[in-house]
Amino acid sequence: MSGPDPRLGVVVVAAGSGERLAARHPKALVLLAGRPLLAHALAGLAAAGLPPPVVVHTPGQGEEFARAAGDLAIAGLVPGGATRTASVAAGIAALADDVEVVAIHDAARPLTPPEVIGAAVAAVTGAPDVLAAAPGVPVADTLKRTLAGEVLGTVDRTGLVGVQTPQVFPRIVIDRVLDPTRPVEDATDDLALVERLRDGGELAGRIVVVPGSVWARKVTYPSDLALLEVLGQHSAPDAAGVGGGT
Ligand code: CTP
Ligand code: MG
Repeated sequence: MSGPDPRLGVVVVAAGSGERLAARHPKALVLLAGRPLLAHALAGLAAAGLPPPVVVHTPGQGEEFARAAGDLAIAGLVPGGATRTASVAAGIAALADDVEVVAIHDAARPLTPPEVIGAAVAAVTGAPDVLAAAPGVPVADTLKRTLAGEVLGTVDRTGLVGVQTPQVFPRIVIDRVLDPTRPVEDATDDLALVERLRDGGELAGRIVVVPGSVWARKVTYPSDLALLEVLGQHSAPDAAGVGGGT
């Protein structure tokens, strides 16, 4: 994109039930260092200079989510859907019409460093041919393909990254991907939706990865909360970078 800064819209998806965390509350309301995950995520986005986001909440719990956001500015609260993709679509539908670039962030990544957020946004606003951008971290462990507890082989790790959020898109791209007039398969991340159209020849351009961070780790299991409690006591060093090292 060129010219003046494009108008940015932000969606925080927070409507998941958190089955794997198995807490008593929706995951976004679970406390980390005494503060709801949602509030941490909102504070990180604000620290990166992003505008107030639309928060997609667990249906029927709008008041609890508003309370969890507290004093942090939000652009609106909308109920989510049964899948992550449906929740993303609900959030995007609530953005202002003049939004040109959309950042979608998981409430479940409470400590995502502002530098990581800024890098993902800049990757889209700074290049006209970028269809999508997301932070990623190189996979550290050796990877084995297994079946029923037996090793079938070693997976070549070259180029493999774990992707994080925020995932950022030109508005025209994400609107095309979530076109309500045709079926959208669910995906665990939003880049996958764009990859399908790129691979099918419907969209031309680059899907890029920017340096992510261990601090952007997603709370999935109870052990992730324990890890992030500790990480939260330290400031994040420079982004992990992508590629290089063994
Ligand atoms: N999410 C959402 N709507 C859904 C499912 C997920 O808004 N129907 C959001 C979650 O709130 C979370 C992010 O997407 O911020 C990443 O999803 P995940 O970590 O899988 O969270 P949950 O789906 O809540 O957890 P689980 O899969 O263990 O139930
Ligand atoms: Mg889930």
